[in-house]
Amino acid sequence: MNAQALRAQLLAWYDANARDLPWRVGPKAHAVGVRADPYRVWLSEVMLQQTTVPHATPYFLKFTARWPTVADLAGEADGEVMAAWAGLGYYARARNLLACARAVAAEHGGVFPDAEAGLRALPGLGPYTAAAVAAIAFDEPTNVVDGNVERVMARLFAVETPLPDAKPELKRLAARLIGDDRPGDWAQALMDLGATICRPKAPLCDRCPVAEHCAALKSGAPETYPRRTAKAERPHRHGVAYVLTRGDEVALVRRPPRGLLGGMLALPTSDWRTARWSDAEARAGAPAQAAWRGVGEVEHGFTHFTLTLTLLRAEGEADGVIWTPRRDLDALPSVFLKAARAGFANLL
Ligand code: ADE
Repeated sequence: MNAQALRAQLLAWYDANARDLPWRVGPKAHAVGVRADPYRVWLSEVMLQQTTVPHATPYFLKFTARWPTVADLAGEADGEVMAAWAGLGYYARARNLLACARAVAAEHGGVFPDAEAGLRALPGLGPYTAAAVAAIAFDEPTNVVDGNVERVMARLFAVETPLPDAKPELKRLAARLIGDDRPGDWAQALMDLGATICRPKAPLCDRCPVAEHCAALKSGAPETYPRRTAKAERPHRHGVAYVLTRGDEVALVRRPPRGLLGGMLALPTSDWRTARWSDAEARAGAPAQAAWRGVGEVEHGFTHFTLTLTLLRAEGEADGVIWTPRRDLDALPSVFLKAARAGFANLL
């Protein structure tokens, strides 16, 4: 592997093909000294750890319009930020985001530390994010390795070790390609290559600027890398969700602060368990005395299990719930928004 040639080829490709992204300072502007805003880089990286660029972009625009600086975000109430995060998933990240923003505001005068080690010391800011912000915002030659970069490395070097065991090896291989020349552009060039050319399925090898270095391409089946150990099937759980309305309002509850969907608004539900809930059990667990009607079910995929929610719907009163106008339901995590919408639609 000629690392120098590969670096030059990928950076030249990035110069011509960099995606235009709202948190990014493109290669032309960067070359004449424009610096990315660390706040925007940090926010985008936290959002992009769990979702794709198209899904994260509207959230990024909404957050930066509403909270243009880290101090603005730090000064916001938890509930407002959690509501704005709804739909992005992994809600512990939203809490970590706030913890980090508040530390930057309170302990660093609203200025992000300008090196990986200082970033890493912030609460709620993990090793990936520290490396990414240090590279992209401060041009520190860190090793920025996400799932895209793992895939690119697994293919370039035809790594036979399956994921997840291969992770340390892939990280070492990525480290071999780092250089002092344009570290931020390098990190983003690898991300763009992974997202647009070296795609998980159907990679576009005929357009790849570094195809000549790719051992997986030489093997004839580049798409079969990275290797993976056979996946255990995702377990299935069952719950009952209650769509209780009072005119235009819906009864919501706040979930306990820790655990899955912690601190988020939710529909009242039963526990989520392996066995289905009988109709009698579902009715017995309802949050209010009312004429409950079965209105179907919805399925939702979480990282570690699939959930089927059986839906019961009624009009009535209840104590201890948060009555919320229907138009404000976008503060709900996707699973409950889906359930509430199905609860309404199936009634018609
Ligand atoms: N995925 C993760 N971080 C990214 C970034 N900064 N630009 C594009 N895609 C990304």
